[in-house]
Amino acid sequence: MTPTRWGIVGLGRAGQARSRVIAARPHATLAGTAGRRPGRGTTTVDALLADPTVDGVIVCTENAHHAEAAARILDAGKHAIVEFPLAATAAEGRDLFARARTVGRVLHTELIGLLTARHRAARAHCRRARVEQLTVRFTARTYRWVADEVEAGRVGQLAIARLHALRDLFGPLTLDEVRCDFADGGYHLVVDLTGAGGARLTLDERRAPELKRGSTTAGRLADGRPFDPEPLDEPGDLFGQDFDRALARVAGEAGAAYVSDETVLEVLTLAERISAAAA
Ligand SMILES: NC(=O)c1ccc[n+]([C@@H]2O[C@H](COP(=O)([O-])OP(=O)(O)OC[C@H]3O[C@@H](n4cnc5c(N)ncnc54)[C@H](OP(=O)(O)O)[C@@H]3O)[C@@H](O)[C@H]2O)c1
Repeated sequence: MTPTRWGIVGLGRAGQARSRVIAARPHATLAGTAGRRPGRGTTTVDALLADPTVDGVIVCTENAHHAEAAARILDAGKHAIVEFPLAATAAEGRDLFARARTVGRVLHTELIGLLTARHRAARAHCRRARVEQLTVRFTARTYRWVADEVEAGRVGQLAIARLHALRDLFGPLTLDEVRCDFADGGYHLVVDLTGAGGARLTLDERRAPELKRGSTTAGRLADGRPFDPEPLDEPGDLFGQDFDRALARVAGEAGAAYVSDETVLEVLTLAERISAAAA
């Protein structure tokens, strides 16, 4: 694999994890990191984009910054890896994929939830048995940029990881009903969906300032047995796995993308519809 040089913008948890991943890769070098907070990082976004030796930039900032940052990176003729969600709207996402095609660079959206052992086990279970009903419950705290997303009403976009997981397990999803209560700096969102094969799916999400992060999945198979995927060992290094797939895409390896551009746009459209219905 040809060695490549990468910059990182955004030095929160995701950005720091990306730094560690690049440091551990023999064919990738960290060209520099750019934080927006004073004193953070080794360089600036402008310097990374102006540097002809930089092949790509990874966007690890908060959701509202992703689309604008990705557009600048692509317009500078560099590959862009973007933590999910790619953008707030499908229209922005479509525009970004068009820019990537124009400059002939890779635009890769990280969706590490699809790489977990838990998700792979669920996928194997869904292949073996027909699921009749499934409920995914998710809780998390609201803080800084998440609170801004809630304030902006982008609760569907905040659910993008779970929506991608359901889309991956059950094919294109039909949106049946959305209920959402906003209260005390958080919300409770319930989304009913139907999978391509008729599975009835419910996504139940709560966020509040002090809520602990957690996720459970429970459901029923068509034969009456519970949804009960066989546990698999978690390989870990999810950002590393994602980066390796992105590097393979940059190297032109066929089939390296684990989510198609069309699916990214389809799920962004669904997220937007959920946010609109929740408002
Ligand atoms: N963390 C994960 O495991 C994970 C997994 C998948 C996807 N993502 C996605 O990655 C993106 C970033 O998530 P994250 O978990 O890295 O968020 P985060 O730690 O809150 O960092 C997000 C941004 O907030 C700023 N920030 C961080 N700590 C701060 C502090 N103490 N005071 C003020 N500002 C601070 C940083 O700005 P600057 O560094 O630019 O100054 C950073 O770019 C999100 O879009 C998220 O959906 C995260």
